[in-house]
Amino acid sequence: MADGETGGKEAVKETRKGAGKGGALTRRGLLVGIGAAGGAGAMYAAMGALGLAPTGQDKEFTPPREGDFTLRGKASASVVILGAGVAGLTAAYELGKAGYDCTLLEARPKAGGRNLTLRGGDRVTELNGPAQDVTFGEGVYFNAGPGRIAPWMVTLDYCRELGVPIETFVNSNAAAYVHVNGKTMRARTARADMYGYVAELLAKATDTGALDRTLTRDDKERLLEFLRRFGDLGPRLDYTGSDRRGFAEWPAVGAGTPLDGPGTLRQVLAAGTGRAITNDFGFEQATPMFQPVGGMDAIVTALQKAVGTDRIKTGAKVTKITTMDDGVEVAYTGGVMKADYCIATLPPHILARIPHNLGPQVTSALAKPTPVAAGKIGLEYATRWWEREDRIYGGVTETDLDITHIWYPSHDYHAERGLLVGYYNTGPEAELYGALSPEDRRRRALTQGKKIHGEKYRQNVLSSASVAWHRQEHIEGGWVRWPAFDSSFTLLQRPAGRVYFAGDWLTHLIAWQAGAMESARAVVTKLHQRVLQSP
Ligand code: PHE
Repeated sequence: MADGETGGKEAVKETRKGAGKGGALTRRGLLVGIGAAGGAGAMYAAMGALGLAPTGQDKEFTPPREGDFTLRGKASASVVILGAGVAGLTAAYELGKAGYDCTLLEARPKAGGRNLTLRGGDRVTELNGPAQDVTFGEGVYFNAGPGRIAPWMVTLDYCRELGVPIETFVNSNAAAYVHVNGKTMRARTARADMYGYVAELLAKATDTGALDRTLTRDDKERLLEFLRRFGDLGPRLDYTGSDRRGFAEWPAVGAGTPLDGPGTLRQVLAAGTGRAITNDFGFEQATPMFQPVGGMDAIVTALQKAVGTDRIKTGAKVTKITTMDDGVEVAYTGGVMKADYCIATLPPHILARIPHNLGPQVTSALAKPTPVAAGKIGLEYATRWWEREDRIYGGVTETDLDITHIWYPSHDYHAERGLLVGYYNTGPEAELYGALSPEDRRRRALTQGKKIHGEKYRQNVLSSASVAWHRQEHIEGGWVRWPAFDSSFTLLQRPAGRVYFAGDWLTHLIAWQAGAMESARAVVTKLHQRVLQSP
């Protein structure tokens, strides 16, 4: 993902720096009293399971813990949740544990929102575009939305709690390619050369005394020792290549044939591999990452089951939201619903179009975040040539082409067929592909991928399916970008009357399921506190 594509990333970082210390303190505070609270939580969960949802309000309230999250205390209010994506489902799941009566209104034909896994037999419709019938073979799937989970994210806590098995998602793979400025090389080669030359420059500057004002004699020694390792430098601190770059023929009985190269410093700098080889440096992208076994929608399936499918009304498009002194009224295609509270989890640009009485400040705040286009194509092949021939087992090829990335599957290795993600792009590139017909998207993706993998990339393609998220009905975007995390952002983190807002778009984890889940947890905590305090 190119810098800045996720929207206000610098702003996110700034905020995070500030929040770091306070966050740690709060977390410590939350951990106090886990033992004491455990019993009550278990009891209410058991009561819920037995259908003994409590009817009275329990005035005692203990804030939720990190990870295993349970609202403390019981309540009996009704809540209408708009949207059955990850935020809506998480809210319903947590409120359900505490005894609330939740109903979810979902405009799309099925729950999950952007957590969408496509399989043979599925049909993808699109705004202003033709429908696609997915014809993948048995066992083949395509995570068209979220595809990877970092270990620190709460998403994994839900996988654990709901019994969704996970497996490693290979985000960083030295054997994957880097394709920049028309040249293709293995990530391992690009890394070895950049690290090598950077180490050489710094080592020589250190050795010749250019940094003597900054470094003591001991510092210099230690730094040089590290740089030798970092760049695999020679005795005279030169980078002259390294077997880290890889081999034309791997060592076996013989010593192998090293790759040609490296190029000169100037050539290596001109290759411009910088972004492509630092992509996994970020705390969101660092290895290892994870995915649910069998498809990302295992999370949706498990949440739906826990919530109760009978609580989810699909095909229910919200047409009006009215907050009142004693409750909320939501009109939708198919009826009107009344509830004590409402949690609106629709994307802000969709919510903004729905008539409401939540006030002009809410209206103007909802207009601030703008949708970011995003798209993916799944290409199904008759053979897993990337494993057999390229020896690529999972991971991502980074490119400066309009396809941006190619993802190789991190599951079902050595199976007969396989599916790779032929493009995953955002912004203008996603709009470009989104405007094409499904056949043209595939044709273009194959033409681009061929520049990396050669003619075989266009052979043995069995089928494909693509999703342009900005053209998905009731979603209309991959995610959103806030021009700033300002007072509009914080305003919507608070309820407007009896209506609460939730979604990844209200967090600093935009474009992650963890954002949707964290937002849902924050909102149900606030709602629950209010219910327990109300007479
Ligand atoms: N979560 C998305 C992904 O992993 C989008 C994203 C990318 C968000 C990079 C933040 C950083 O591709």
